[in-house]
Amino acid sequence: MPPIIYIPETSSTNTYLKEMICNQEVEEGTIIATHHQLAGRGQKGSSWEAEKGKNLTFSLLLKPDFVPIMEQFIISQMVSLAIHDVLSQYTSDVAIKWPNDIYWREKKICGILIENILGEEKIDNCIVGIGLNVNQEEFLSSAPNPISLKQITNQDYDLETMLTFIQLKMLRCYKALSDGRGEEIVKGYKSYLYRKDGYHLYADGEQNIEARIADIQSTGYLVLETLEGEIRTFAFKEVKYVM
Ligand code: BTN
Repeated sequence: MPPIIYIPETSSTNTYLKEMICNQEVEEGTIIATHHQLAGRGQKGSSWEAEKGKNLTFSLLLKPDFVPIMEQFIISQMVSLAIHDVLSQYTSDVAIKWPNDIYWREKKICGILIENILGEEKIDNCIVGIGLNVNQEEFLSSAPNPISLKQITNQDYDLETMLTFIQLKMLRCYKALSDGRGEEIVKGYKSYLYRKDGYHLYADGEQNIEARIADIQSTGYLVLETLEGEIRTFAFKEVKYVM
């Protein structure tokens, strides 16, 4: 297996891995992990809270040169599905909230920040950053709805064992993708979607809309069908889930 390299302390494992690949050859599947991430980065320019020594904060390197740039969302789907499947070994009620948050019931247990370094026509390097709340018991930041595995199950977990398990699962799912079994990934992703069934409230920036998830396109766009039967398509950031 590719190495899992532990850095005692770093600002962000995504930034660390990005700098590393500029300076040396790094094997695909390598993971950079830290027990103390000082300035974890989240989606939409947010920060990621993780108490020292309590959670998994790591970045995995992929080189998916077989994935067309227009279809890069399949990587988000693959990563979400792998994390979903690992967490489902520890607890039930895990779901994937479009595009790539991992939820337990109505709360966020894992965040994913994927940063692609594009070549002329392909993805040269893909940095998959994952923050998984494992043993933390209290969250202090303004993040709206965090939860950890310990808060769900009342147990502590060995972080290094869990990370080895995640690396294995992730590389298996990635192999399925590179072997041309992307359809299985898409099917799995869609079947575990948060709010997969029924009508729920969303906000499109101007107003709340009651709608159901009709599809997720291969571009990553969310397709909603409103109560009135109107089909609307949204990119990430164009629509919010009203909780
Ligand atoms: C989100 O906002 O949901 C994404 C959070 C991603 C956090 C992880 S922690 C490891 C990696 N390094 C970072 O700086 N961010 C990601």
